[in-house]
Amino acid sequence: MTMQWQWLQPDVSCALRAYAKINLTLDILGRRGDGYHALATVMQTVDLYDTLCLTLRDDEEVRLVCTRPELSTEANLALRAALVLREYTGERRGLQIELQKRIPCAAGLGGGSSDAAAVLLALARLWQLQLTAAELVKLAASLGSDVPFFLYGGLALCEGRGELVRPLPPYWPTELRWLVLLKPAISVATAEVFSALTARDYSDGSHTRAVCAALQEQRMPSLAHLHNGLERGVVERYPEVAAGREALLEAGAPFVRLSGSGPTLFTGLADLEQAHRLWLRLQEQGYEVYLTQPVSCSAESLTLAPLPAR
Ligand code: C5P
Repeated sequence: MTMQWQWLQPDVSCALRAYAKINLTLDILGRRGDGYHALATVMQTVDLYDTLCLTLRDDEEVRLVCTRPELSTEANLALRAALVLREYTGERRGLQIELQKRIPCAAGLGGGSSDAAAVLLALARLWQLQLTAAELVKLAASLGSDVPFFLYGGLALCEGRGELVRPLPPYWPTELRWLVLLKPAISVATAEVFSALTARDYSDGSHTRAVCAALQEQRMPSLAHLHNGLERGVVERYPEVAAGREALLEAGAPFVRLSGSGPTLFTGLADLEQAHRLWLRLQEQGYEVYLTQPVSCSAESLTLAPLPAR
């Protein structure tokens, strides 16, 4: 779990950070009977974050206020997380959620999913709920395939439709110490990206297995294994993503990969000066770019039991 907690008034209000993620590699194994795709992916949280402030209300209302007013709706995953938890536990106390949005939306960075997981974790404390890790994971999975990952954060292997999370030992290669993220000026609907997949985008999971093996041996995975089965379709379909990819490569990025269903692209560098130069060049070209680092699980992660090893 990657929350940094700040208790404003214990038992009444708390503030926390919900981090974004990148997919270091993502194999699409095939289409399942339920319409979802079976996948194997390695995800890592990065230090680009939304800030949430949760305050108990005197009435029974659950309200959300967001710095991006168009996100202050009932579809917001942070609000839905609170409602799902209330429904499950029968809790009636009202809640005010204030959400300072920094993570770009519909960008492949998991911002909405991270906010939802943060709300589940914070409310479990604020409402003093006696929920097991398995119950939280189940509620999280009902909100979205990526939400369970954000209950853990750090580095993890995610399988199934993404909801089966196995935390990995927190090793991150020096070669990728600084991550430059480029968010093309479009939003991409995850469902559309998945529905455009064809059999040639499927793989057998070998990229993910190779990346896991390298990380466990504390070495940099081969660049050939930093793969994303969703990338071909997204790059072909959205010229803005293809242009962003070219811009990153021309500015000196050693490699470029799509994060999740995109459109955000990322690269990794060992050297801060180099990474900063790259970031600056792309920013001068008018791109929305972020210079980030991986963040590992906070101490809070100890409160959630990992899923049993298979
Ligand atoms: O789980 P989530 O609601 O985030 O997924 C959004 C959409 O992306 C799904 O409705 C589905 O169309 C697609 N998806 C998929 N396979 C996955 C995850 C998502 O096809 N493993």
